[in-house]
Amino acid sequence: MTFAAADISRGEVFCRTKGASLAVSSTASAPRGGSPRIEIVDLVKSYRREGGAAITPVNHIDLSVAANELVVLLGPSGCGKTTLLRCVAGLERPDAGEIVIDGKTVFSSKKGIYLPADQRAISMVFQSYALWPHMTVSENVAYPLNSRRAPKTEIAVRVQQVLEMVGVGGLGQQYPSRISGGQQQRVALARALVGGSSVVLFDEPLSNVDAQVRAQLRFELQAMQRRLGFSGLYVTHDQTEAMELGHRVAVLDAGVMAALGTPHDVYNNPPNDYVARFVGVANIWGGTVTSLDGSTIAAKTPFGTLLVAKRVSQLADIAVGDAVSIVARPENLRIDVATPGPLPENAVAGTVEAQLFSGAHTEIIARLADGQLATVWVHDQSRLAALVVGTDVHLSAAPTQLRLVPASSVAAP
Ligand SMILES: Nc1ncnc2c1ncn2[C@@H]1O[C@H](COP(=O)(O)OP(=O)(O)OP(=O)(O)O)[C@@H](O)[C@H]1O
Ligand SMILES: [Mg+2]
Repeated sequence: MTFAAADISRGEVFCRTKGASLAVSSTASAPRGGSPRIEIVDLVKSYRREGGAAITPVNHIDLSVAANELVVLLGPSGCGKTTLLRCVAGLERPDAGEIVIDGKTVFSSKKGIYLPADQRAISMVFQSYALWPHMTVSENVAYPLNSRRAPKTEIAVRVQQVLEMVGVGGLGQQYPSRISGGQQQRVALARALVGGSSVVLFDEPLSNVDAQVRAQLRFELQAMQRRLGFSGLYVTHDQTEAMELGHRVAVLDAGVMAALGTPHDVYNNPPNDYVARFVGVANIWGGTVTSLDGSTIAAKTPFGTLLVAKRVSQLADIAVGDAVSIVARPENLRIDVATPGPLPENAVAGTVEAQLFSGAHTEIIARLADGQLATVWVHDQSRLAALVVGTDVHLSAAPTQLRLVPASSVAAP
């Protein structure tokens, strides 16, 4: 079966997909892996700014997305997330590199190939829902199917199924302007999923809905992705969303891939302090390596020497005298009221400056000896009375709970 409906101006990219079926898959969870659905090889896209300066928001990016895998592109505003997505969609023409979707080369600078958006087997969901205001919800969702030679009744059944799947089964006859933002985004999602594309691109689809709806939609989207088994690239600058949704997370830094890995890996083993700062909250302390053995590295910091467990994969070439950053996550730091005498092992001294209660935990901000601020999370509320503002404290962590990364001049995002 073939369908061709492409209205790029409304942010819609539907393409000729051979063999697409109107049936909804009911398999519980499709396996990930196999040959990649999206392959991006050494991709470059530059723009020239007014005045002549060039910027390169996609700077030699390599990335492949496996079958049934959702890869989240995470990074601060302006780092190139949307540009990369638009290159994959065929809404931007890259300068160099190659993009292969479902085994078909859609862009290759070397081979002189550039397929426009309507010839790429993908669908796309945007932050601005891009629904047709003069069409009902059902008509909007049916739009990509209308050029298929399927009977109208079959299309109507499929549209209703997908509307129910995204939780707006009762709104088919309404117009987009008469439903809430969260409901509109569900409709936009339904429209992207209705054609059964195996590749879906998302550009911050949840950033216009409020926090509770966003959390709910994230959960539902994850369940739908597992059930339908599409592959996706999902852009966000919300790190919680990235960690919850992505099978893998790609952290971008001014057009360059700063990290790529599972959410656990990127959070627990950031390759540099840019990633540590951007993914989660991190205390980052500069130091110099003073000694190392097979299992532990000692680094001198402005507030004493700290021991960090050595991780073979990341730090094969670390040497005495190297400038490093120590990454301490707030949930991995222990805070105790200071006791007289020498500092306990792997502890730094500070004074409590603030207690910020956030429900699940209380954030304690302490000022360290050199004037830096450190953040610690305390979950046990019964400890807070002893840790009031002005209390002298020790912050400590086991060497295995600290990470050591190369010192970097990258500014915090
Ligand atoms: N058509 C264009 N011409 C010139 N510069 C552009 C163009 N489109 C984007 N840019 C610039 O490219 C850079 C990357 O933009 P992009 O939209 O990809 O960022 P982003 O990571 O999606 O940011 P945000 O989170 O704010 O959406 C920015 O500096 C932007 O100003
Ligand atoms: Mg963007």
